[in-house]
Amino acid sequence: MAIPATVATIASYVDQEVELQGWLYNKRGSGRIAFLQLRDGTGLIQCIASKKDLEVVEEGLFQRLRKLGQESSLVVRGMVRQDDRAPHCGHEIHVTGAHIVCPASDYPITKKEHGPAFLHDHRHLWFRSKRQQAILRIRHLAIKAIRDYLDSRGYVLFDSPMLTPNACEGTTTLFSTDYYGRPAYLTQSGQLYQEAGALALRKTYCFGPVFRAEKSDTRRHLTEFWMVEPEVAWIDFDGVMDLCEDFLVNVVAQVLEQGRPWLEELERDVSVLERVQKPFPRISYDDAAQAVRDMGIEMEEGDDFGSPQETALANSYDRPVMVHRYPTAVKAFYMKEDPERPERCFGVDVLAPEGYGEIIGGGQREDDLGVLVGKIEQHGLPMDAFEWYLDLRRFGSAPHGGFGLGVERFVAWLCGVPHIRECIPFPRQLDRLQP
Ligand code: 4AD
Ligand code: MG
Repeated sequence: MAIPATVATIASYVDQEVELQGWLYNKRGSGRIAFLQLRDGTGLIQCIASKKDLEVVEEGLFQRLRKLGQESSLVVRGMVRQDDRAPHCGHEIHVTGAHIVCPASDYPITKKEHGPAFLHDHRHLWFRSKRQQAILRIRHLAIKAIRDYLDSRGYVLFDSPMLTPNACEGTTTLFSTDYYGRPAYLTQSGQLYQEAGALALRKTYCFGPVFRAEKSDTRRHLTEFWMVEPEVAWIDFDGVMDLCEDFLVNVVAQVLEQGRPWLEELERDVSVLERVQKPFPRISYDDAAQAVRDMGIEMEEGDDFGSPQETALANSYDRPVMVHRYPTAVKAFYMKEDPERPERCFGVDVLAPEGYGEIIGGGQREDDLGVLVGKIEQHGLPMDAFEWYLDLRRFGSAPHGGFGLGVERFVAWLCGVPHIRECIPFPRQLDRLQP
């Protein structure tokens, strides 16, 4: 009896007969011998079928395998041989039998170059390819490392709702929906609810999809993306920056430890990730703006950084850089004003090297009731929708803060892929809701 096996566990079965379930990735061969590249979701392996052997097993089987189309599903039986020269995994299968489950023909994604639009139209098939699988595995490892970091340090998972009555990150990027005759919005960030969580449980986080009706169709923007948002009570602004730094150092280290094979598959220069060590440079917005101007890049007084400014700035460092104390006017209503300079606020962005831009946004939250009421008015937000949020300043207000990391931007940087749309299984963008 052949032993059920997978490519990932094949090394345990050398010189034994196994059965592998999978899909035909590629093939080549002659009239007498066929080299079938089988992928089974855990890896790739070469299966060698000879006409002489297979004709004895089942008449015509060799020919059917020889003609099989890419991405046909099949079950292969065979002897496992170890051979360091074997492609993919250092092992190969000498086929003793096979059962074709679903023959496929004209699989749309072939070895020839396809344009990005075509590939994204076939996203449901595209991630059967090696590179896409490597990216999605790094995404999985990154999410696991993030959860491990927070779970092992006393953070309580505290899920924020997706349907909300108000904006969190400005009203221009809200997706609205009808909620039994009333307007409701898809959440842009779980932060406001995390603040309630942190004032109850001290350290909380949410980790889920968030939505931004972004009009910008860039390589950094999705309309639905995943964000992890830790929030901590009794933390000050320096504490928030320390947390961003410690979080990134540890999470990147765990991904490096567990994800080497996939980063290699992606030909990622891991030295960039190995340099993610403390301390990260911390530079004030004012100094950063001056540095950008000194590089000859235009930057209006008090403006937020755009992508050219961010890229230029981040490229001046060999590791992530933290830019702090942004102009209060360009940041969200909840940012705490710097008491020494109210026109600057306790907001921090972490910029990744190599042009990946802002991967983290965070800061200390306004904890003064009067100031916060003024901010809500200034930003033209509906006061009644925020009454519950103001309660957090009425009953036991305390210094608190946290940050949000966009998973796809983080994964794009980890993998060194240019566009974040490859870093989520099914991207949602300005012009894309399919598949
Ligand atoms: O800087 P943002 O808007 O911060 C917040 O939402 C805070 N409420 C988070 C917090 O303090 N709890 O977004 C945080 C991160 C960005 O740094 C970026 O990585 C990512 O979310 N992000 C996007 N990722 C993909 N597509 C978009 N349209 C994104 N907008 C923000
Ligand atoms: Mg931001």
